[in-house]
Amino acid sequence: MNKERVGNFYDVVWTEYIPEYEASEKHWRLFFSPGEVRGKAVLDAGCGTVIFSIIFARNGAGRVTGIDISPGSLGTAESLKEKFHLGNARFERQDMLRLPHPDASFDIVWAWGTVHHTTDPLAAVIELIRVLKPGGSILQAIYKKTKVTWIHEAIRKTLIRTPRWSWNHLDKGMALFGTPIVAFFKKREKSRKGEKLSELILDWYFVPIRHHYTPNEIRTFLEKRGYAIENYLAHSGRFDSSSNFVYKARNPA
Ligand SMILES: C[S@@+](CC[C@H](N)C(=O)[O-])C[C@H]1O[C@@H](n2cnc3c(N)ncnc32)[C@H](O)[C@@H]1O
Repeated sequence: MNKERVGNFYDVVWTEYIPEYEASEKHWRLFFSPGEVRGKAVLDAGCGTVIFSIIFARNGAGRVTGIDISPGSLGTAESLKEKFHLGNARFERQDMLRLPHPDASFDIVWAWGTVHHTTDPLAAVIELIRVLKPGGSILQAIYKKTKVTWIHEAIRKTLIRTPRWSWNHLDKGMALFGTPIVAFFKKREKSRKGEKLSELILDWYFVPIRHHYTPNEIRTFLEKRGYAIENYLAHSGRFDSSSNFVYKARNPA
């Protein structure tokens, strides 16, 4: 049920939102190079509108599998697959908490902004690790727990109880109120260009499931399982957002 709610939410919120290719690829290069992905099997877990699947495929990955629970996003994925002639990519409707793929199927698992939207993010990481080959690497961008997370969560938990029909009015009203504040901090220029503030608000405050972690919690979780942290970004989201932190970790061979 919760899974359905998240899938339906992303059908509405992300189906038409395709993050900027260049900014995404520039960010991707902080973690991977074409040499590292050439010929590799990649899982894009929670692929959404598949921007990172496209980047992996165009940078020489041997096989890219994108999975998501949002049929709307997967529809967009199929049309982008055609547009970019991605013969080496396939997209499937799957729940990352219960993947059908055998153990050790992938060299690289990429989970950008996704495990924190599942009912059990750490179980999701365990499932993603299960399908990773020995010596493979996993990248996760996860919402950061901060001193004010509880305030954002209190707002979100109130707003998701409001009737669905009111969301477009609420997010636009909040955007009107928030625009001068955001302009003051000059956040918009750095943020997700092409996406309206009301859409960002919808994504942030109306998503049915969201969990936050401290970087230390995730580091400890990975290191306990023998993973070596290869790269850590404390403040960066794809477009310089401070809401996420990112870990790239390698599985002991
Ligand atoms: C914030 S979007 C990120 C999309 C993409 N990774 C990107 O960075 O452009 C989160 C995605 O995770 C997907 N998702 C959430 N829970 C999931 C689950 N249990 N299994 C698979 N996908 C899931 C959502 O449907 C949504 O497309």
